Amino acid sequence: MLSMKTESTGNKQKFIIAGLGNRGRDSFARALLAFPNRGIPEFRERAEIAAFVDINIERARVANLVLGAAIPAYTTIQEAAARHPADWAIITTVDRTHADLAVAALGLGLDVFLDKPMATSVWECNRIIETSRRCGRRVIVGHNLRYYEHMLALAKIVRSGAIGEVQQVEAGEVLDFDHGGSYFHRWHSEFDKSAGLMNHKCCHQLDLINWVIEDRPVAVSAMGARNYYVPRPGLKNGARCSECAIARQCPHFCDLDANDRRYRRMYVDVEHVDGYIRDACVFSDRNTINDRETLNIRYSRGATACFSMVTYAPREYNYYNFTGHEGRLEYSVAFDPKAKPGQGTGGAETGFATNEGRPQIRLFHKDGAVEFVDVQKLHEDYGHGGADVKLIASLLGIELPGIDPIQRATPEQARDAVAIADMAARSIARNGSCVAFEETGRDFPPFPPSARRPG
Ligand SMILES: NC(=O)c1ccc[n+]([C@@H]2O[C@H](COP(=O)([O-])OP(=O)(O)OC[C@H]3O[C@@H](n4cnc5c(N)ncnc54)[C@H](O)[C@@H]3O)[C@@H](O)[C@H]2O)c1
Repeated sequence: MLSMKTESTGNKQKFIIAGLGNRGRDSFARALLAFPNRGIPEFRERAEIAAFVDINIERARVANLVLGAAIPAYTTIQEAAARHPADWAIITTVDRTHADLAVAALGLGLDVFLDKPMATSVWECNRIIETSRRCGRRVIVGHNLRYYEHMLALAKIVRSGAIGEVQQVEAGEVLDFDHGGSYFHRWHSEFDKSAGLMNHKCCHQLDLINWVIEDRPVAVSAMGARNYYVPRPGLKNGARCSECAIARQCPHFCDLDANDRRYRRMYVDVEHVDGYIRDACVFSDRNTINDRETLNIRYSRGATACFSMVTYAPREYNYYNFTGHEGRLEYSVAFDPKAKPGQGTGGAETGFATNEGRPQIRLFHKDGAVEFVDVQKLHEDYGHGGADVKLIASLLGIELPGIDPIQRATPEQARDAVAIADMAARSIARNGSCVAFEETGRDFPPFPPSARRPG
C-alpha cells in the first residue's frame, strides 16, 4: 500500500484539509492556523496545515486569501498527499463524499478526522470502518455536540446511576424559520447529497441519545413529510435570493453580503467553477428531503426513544428527557430569536457564540424531589458554544479543562447515529413499518416517497 504518512516535525502534526467551505475554512483551518489566541494554547504550536483539497480550487484560493495563508491547494487528496506528506486528513466536504474521501485517505496511510455525519448510509460507514481496520489507521468523527458541558453532564448523571437504567427517551430538534430554512438554500436539501436532515442535522442529537444511554439502536419506525418548503403557486419568488423581488420580506432571506460578504466570496464569486448556488429559493422544486420527521427507536437492551425534528418553528428549541426506574433527567434550551445575528455571519464557525439560550437540566429523584443541575460553561465564546475548540484540542492531545475521554466519538458509535437515519428513511419509504438494523448496510437508503422530486 502506498504510504504518504510522515513523521511529524517536532511535536507538530500535519493536516490535509479536504473541503474549504464553511466548516473546513472557518472551524478547522482558522483554528489550526492561530484561532485561539485568547488565553488557551495556540493550536499552531501543535499543528501544521500541509495542503488544502477542494474540487472547487477557487474556493481554496479564497480560503487562503481570507486566512492570510499560502497553503498549497489541489483538487484531489491523492495529489495533495503525494506532494505534502501528512499525518491526518480532515474531511469537511459534502456528506455524500465522506466515504470515498475517507477510504482514499486511509489508503494513503493517513489518519482521518471526519466531520459529522460520518457518511450518508450504514453501507458507506462500513466501508470506512473496514478500510480503517485493514490499513491500521484511526478514524475520529466530529460529533462536537458531545463537547458541550451540559451534554457531558447528562452523560455523567446517567452513568452515575442517578435515574437507574434509562428505559424511555423523548427528544426533539425544533429549528426556527431561519435555521431550518437555511438547509433548503443549500446542497443539504438534496437527499442524495445529505441523506436528509435526520442524517445531516439530527445525527448530532441521535448520537447524543445513544451516547448518554450507552446503547445501540436496533430498530426504527418513522414517518415524515415535506409540505412547508414546497413550491408556492402565486408567490412571486425568484430562483435564488439574490435575484428575488420579495427576498427582503422573506423570513428565509439569505444575505450573501452579510459579515463582510462572507457567502458572496465563499460561494458566489467561485460559482463559475462548480455551478453551486448557495442562496437557492427554499420554496424550489429541487428539494428532495423531508422538512419534518418523527421516529420511534428501539435499543438493544430494551429502551425506547421517540425523536422529532421540525424545520419551521417560530422559535428554536431542543430537548432531551431520560426516564429510568429511579428517576428522570430533563434537558431543554430555547434560543432567543431576537439575539439572532441573521444569516451569513457564520458565528459558530468563526468562533464567536451567537444565540445560545440558557440550557436547563432538571434531575427528578424517585421521591419527587427536583434538583436543578448547575453546569459551568467553559470557552463558550468559541464556535458552537465552546464545543469546537474542545473537539480540536482533544484531536491535538491538548488538555483543556472540561474535556473527558468519553467525548470522543468512535467510528462505530458514529455509524449508529447514521444507522438511525438510514433505518428511518427506509421506514418512511415503507409507510412507517419497522426497519431493523440488519436491513441496512447493503445500499444507500431509498428516497422517502414524500420527498421525491415531482415527476
Ligand atoms: N460538526 C458541526 O457542527 C458541523 C457544522 C456544519 C457542517 N458540518 C459538516 O461539515 C461538512 C461540510 O459542511 P459545510 O457547511 O462546510 O459545507 P460547504 O458547502 O460550505 O463546504 C463543502 C466544501 O467541500 C467541497 N467538496 C465537495 N466535494 C468534494 C470532494 N469530493 N473533494 C474535495 N472537496 C469537495 C466543496 O467544494 C465545498 O468547498 C459537512 O459534512 C457537514 O455535515 C459539521
